[in-house]
Amino acid sequence: MKFRAIMGALCAAGLMCGVSAVQAAESIEVLHWWTSGGESKAVGVLKDDMTKEGYTWKDFAVAGGAGAAAMTALKTQVISGNAPSAAQIKGPLIQEWAAQGVLVPIDASAGDWKKNLPPEIDKIMHADGHYVAAPFSVHRVNWLYINKAALDKAGGKAPTTWPEFFALADKMKAAGIQPIAMGGQPWQDLTLWEDVVLSQGSEFYKKALVDLDEKTLTSDKMISVFDTVRKIQGYFDAGRTGRDWNLATAMVINGKAGMQFMGDWAKGEFANAGKKSGVDYVCAAVPGTEKSYTFNVDSFVFFQQKGQKSATPGQLALAKTIMSPGFQEQFSLYKGSIPVRLGVSMDKFDDCAKKSYADEQVAIKSGGYVPSLAHGMAQPDAAAGAISDVVTKFMNSQEDSKTAVAALAKAAKTK
Ligand code: GAL
Repeated sequence: MKFRAIMGALCAAGLMCGVSAVQAAESIEVLHWWTSGGESKAVGVLKDDMTKEGYTWKDFAVAGGAGAAAMTALKTQVISGNAPSAAQIKGPLIQEWAAQGVLVPIDASAGDWKKNLPPEIDKIMHADGHYVAAPFSVHRVNWLYINKAALDKAGGKAPTTWPEFFALADKMKAAGIQPIAMGGQPWQDLTLWEDVVLSQGSEFYKKALVDLDEKTLTSDKMISVFDTVRKIQGYFDAGRTGRDWNLATAMVINGKAGMQFMGDWAKGEFANAGKKSGVDYVCAAVPGTEKSYTFNVDSFVFFQQKGQKSATPGQLALAKTIMSPGFQEQFSLYKGSIPVRLGVSMDKFDDCAKKSYADEQVAIKSGGYVPSLAHGMAQPDAAAGAISDVVTKFMNSQEDSKTAVAALAKAAKTK
């Protein structure tokens, strides 16, 4: 009785209204890999929103860019019967988890999603005709970040072709600036490699990395992709082994290096460090990819909780909050992405985000909108992993491009 009276008073005061005692007590465990400065700030918005709604947020953060360690932790949790309430899963992996029969549908929270999501993204959120995942935002992967002072010192402009890129890198080198900040994990190698694949055209990218077409994978063009990657490597510093992506971003932020190839979560780091686009740094499409857009859409899936086959109130509230316009805006402002929900105002966003949005619209119409392989959007886990191994082996040895291409065609057949 006393508890009800307290809840009633809170409701009258405009707090926790409509949240029942059961919901208020529900604790939501959330597994994710958003641990860098910008990422933590962004996921903090969700934590705050859910706490305001009366839920207890149990953070299950597993460090490691692109989530390899988080995925291993998730498997262990699910196998041992301790699945979190929600986990950061995206792309075809959503369907792979759904096929295991461990997810709960969240249709009850998704009433207005269909008309507010691009069709190609709405589809990814489904399994067996039900919504099983809630999307956060759209990251563009094919970006090159350039320290503005380094660019000015090298007397250059943002490069739009590979020859321009190499000329700029040479000028930076001559000016005593480390041209490229590169991290040292397989997913970072794969991110750079897919950028170079994309620079051969979005049709080539689709044939190679979406259709896994053997002729394309073994073509001379693909050999030249590996050659270009090898040439780019000549501008890395010696200390990249094991380096996290955000530490490489910090090198560009602090002027210790000139450029970084990275998706726009890097922009979250620049923003977190108080840096402004156009003033402190420049964002440009990777040379040769201006008209293309590799998309990477983060999402959460929701796991069956002990003895429960349908979503809990907390899981439904989490899904609803993720797709709410206010959250979509604030999350992306911190994260470096753009809202995935259509119709959210871009007024508060910086020039890079506005460019991302404009380029996305163009790419969708022209067929240049393609899923990122390196970020789990293009292929099931097995094939993506096998391709990643080929690229990382190449980038960490003296293997020649022809050998790598032969290995690539073989890896693409991995089921
Ligand atoms: C991506 C993820 C992004 C970003 C990045 C680095 O795969 O989609 O949200 O945070 O990893 O951790």
